[in-house]
Amino acid sequence: MAMAELSTPKTTSPFLHSSSRLRLSSKLHLSNHFRHLLLPPLPTTPNSRISCSVSQNSQAPVAVQENGLVKTKKECYGVFCLTYDLKAEEETKSWKKLIRIAVSGAAGMISNHLLFKLASGEVFGPDQPIALKLLGSERSRQALEGVAMELEDSLFPLLREVDIGTDAYEVFQDVEWALLIGAKPRGPGMERAALLDINGQIFAEQGKALNAVASPNVKVLVVGNPCNTNALICLKNAPNIPAKNFHALTRLDENRAKCQLALKAGVFYDKVSNMTIWGNHSTTQVPDFLNARINGVPVKEVITDHKWLEEGFTESVQKRGGLLIQKWGRSSAASTAVSIVDAIKSLVTPTPEGDWFSTGVYTNGNPYGIAEDLVFSMPCRSKGDGDYELVKDVEIDDYLRNRIAKSEAELLAEKKCVAHLTGEGIAYCDLGPVDTMLPGEV
Ligand code: LMR
Repeated sequence: MAMAELSTPKTTSPFLHSSSRLRLSSKLHLSNHFRHLLLPPLPTTPNSRISCSVSQNSQAPVAVQENGLVKTKKECYGVFCLTYDLKAEEETKSWKKLIRIAVSGAAGMISNHLLFKLASGEVFGPDQPIALKLLGSERSRQALEGVAMELEDSLFPLLREVDIGTDAYEVFQDVEWALLIGAKPRGPGMERAALLDINGQIFAEQGKALNAVASPNVKVLVVGNPCNTNALICLKNAPNIPAKNFHALTRLDENRAKCQLALKAGVFYDKVSNMTIWGNHSTTQVPDFLNARINGVPVKEVITDHKWLEEGFTESVQKRGGLLIQKWGRSSAASTAVSIVDAIKSLVTPTPEGDWFSTGVYTNGNPYGIAEDLVFSMPCRSKGDGDYELVKDVEIDDYLRNRIAKSEAELLAEKKCVAHLTGEGIAYCDLGPVDTMLPGEV
């Protein structure tokens, strides 16, 4: 039996302390937020220590008693419950301060690719220790343990903590990054409005949880579809976190667009730059071939088949997800994980001179006349500090303007469907029959 000690978090929330309370209150259908307000705190003493033990037989850590009280434990897993002092070891002395990264849908396919990339150091660098906070549904609890076991067995030096849990208020505690992947897929016969509502509720709740317990400057990347509107819902429910910190993943679309242009031009895809995806992560998205470059030359000068650019290319990017589902029988997972890595790296490393990247961001103050108060994919640059600025001088011609307006209209319609989740009153949902599709729904 190995024993380990964990320090109590600075802000101690009562719901961290008793799983039996959580079960009882969830039967009463109280949201986590209300649970937080209603449950009386368990007695804690300042600077009290929390112990957790790792049983040799069961692998999973168990709560232990200290001073006659059942002490809380974070849901640390196995070897990750051990404590360590990074400053005490020669090899780790120069490492940066540990960062906490939450991943929802942690037992899913995308996460199964992503988590190992995060843990390897490929994303945040070889001197950045990380803690992974894995959020899943109650149904996926066993699978979450399986994921944690595989992370244990991978012996990643930079992976210092793994917690698993099903309560966003617990898992998001102090996180600096939140990668929100978990969402319900659209089931057979399900109205798109119903999907927006079901997933919207998940992201409203997670926004509230981030607002309550995450680091105040947490960066949030929403992957679960419909990701733009989910990101909007999330940010509206997290008023204490800057709206600028929320992103919807359109990097996969950017990567797909680069690949198609490279294929047509007969060059390797690293020669394609300045690729913007405008708008929604849906079949109305606009891959911008007007401003993209191949070997530094405008795409339209390299690829003279402009009909293909306007029709074939655009549609191939818009519908790539659907084609992939036809081939695979399921949604993209590995390439989505890679694009999440790319999206994060674009924020934590300086953007190469003259280039930019696409990400879905809050539109307030945008110079392109796109309606305010949406999450819309646009060209951005970063100094590598986790923040970004919009690229403000990208040319927009009539073709682009018309296409962008369609995607904007779609997002405005989606926004009306979720007004009840963004605090804007009663929802009214009237989505067009054709264009309101996820890439995977074609
Ligand atoms: C993708 O672009 O591959 C996914 O968003 C498709 C989907 O609908 O899951």
